[in-house]
Amino acid sequence: MQVDLRESWWIRDVEIPTRLVLAPMAGVSVQAFRRQGRRYGAGLVCSEMVSCAGLEHRNERTLGYLRVARDEHPLAIQIFGSEPTVMAEAAQMVVTAGADIVDINFGCPVRKVTKTGAGATLLDDPDRACAIVDAVAGAVDVPVSVKMRRGLEDGSRACLTVGPQLVAAGAATLTLHPRSARQMYTGEADHSLTAELVELVDVPVIASGDITSRGRAQAVLAATGAAAVMVGRAAQGNPWSLREIVDGAAAEPSREEVAAELIVFVRETVRELGERRAVGFLKKFYGWYLGRGRFPRPFKQELVQLESTEEVVTRLLAAAPRATELVERLEAELPDPADEILLDSMPISIYGGG
Ligand SMILES: Cc1cc2nc3c(=O)[nH]c(=O)nc-3n(C[C@H](O)[C@H](O)[C@H](O)COP(=O)(O)O)c2cc1C
Repeated sequence: MQVDLRESWWIRDVEIPTRLVLAPMAGVSVQAFRRQGRRYGAGLVCSEMVSCAGLEHRNERTLGYLRVARDEHPLAIQIFGSEPTVMAEAAQMVVTAGADIVDINFGCPVRKVTKTGAGATLLDDPDRACAIVDAVAGAVDVPVSVKMRRGLEDGSRACLTVGPQLVAAGAATLTLHPRSARQMYTGEADHSLTAELVELVDVPVIASGDITSRGRAQAVLAATGAAAVMVGRAAQGNPWSLREIVDGAAAEPSREEVAAELIVFVRETVRELGERRAVGFLKKFYGWYLGRGRFPRPFKQELVQLESTEEVVTRLLAAAPRATELVERLEAELPDPADEILLDSMPISIYGGG
């Protein structure tokens, strides 16, 4: 069965224009990544996980994750935590910031998060997980979604018992990444569990894990009955994979296209994080963009050593001079940064960090 990825679908009253969702990824899903994802065909984008404790304490860096631009919608902002009331307040803040959907993280396997009783550990504590969903759904008017793993231990099927309970508690969508928390990112995502979950709930299910090509996306959608696929690692430094998945367009860009997208990404990230943070943050992206045989390996090493992003841009333009025109075209299409939603109702400015 051929599934049309350009078909729109709904999460309650929010229309999602394609069946491709860009995954939330900590340390990756900055605004530039999400906006780029939308340009390349993602129907829904998601922030990285935002700490509800950080929001509660008005931590400036945490509040910085709530910068939302006009061209990101529909956008889910993901929160994590373990206290229902604190999560409910955090949900209200992210809706004020412009989220169309509040996503709750019940999937993070990282010890720093799980030892606080948040993330994937909540799959072992369904009562608390349901209390969180119930509190968040009761606190906001927008749909609430949940992203989860299959369970904590290898072979666990916890998602199939917890999932329907979360829907009963108010979740309007479930995203399943069918690996255990213990697995982290090893092995394979077992989408037979996604198919079972789809049968058990009457809300849309999003399939996450190992979606790397149009063929794989079509196969998972057809085999599971999921409403959409989520793409994470395949989109790192490679927005062209999103276009390939949605449209079947050729995935390999020219050197000029790679340089131009990376330059726009660098400039937008500097605007969002400030030069000092952006220099370190961007390093991993150089490898992601320039690898795959697109540029010689020493070129990446050279960029990583540079001390300012301006030097990076200069080197990229020297390596691909005809990218200049493309950069101008891309930047002309982006909305004015002044269109960003300002968090007037937030207690402190989020712009201190640049
Ligand atoms: C670097 C990285 C950071 C991630 N951060 C988050 C996160 O903040 N919240 C979340 O729900 N999942 C997070 N994930 C999991 C992804 O959203 C996704 O479920 C997983 O990578 C499987 O999809 P993929 O095979 O398409 O990458 C992260 C994954 C990676 C690789």
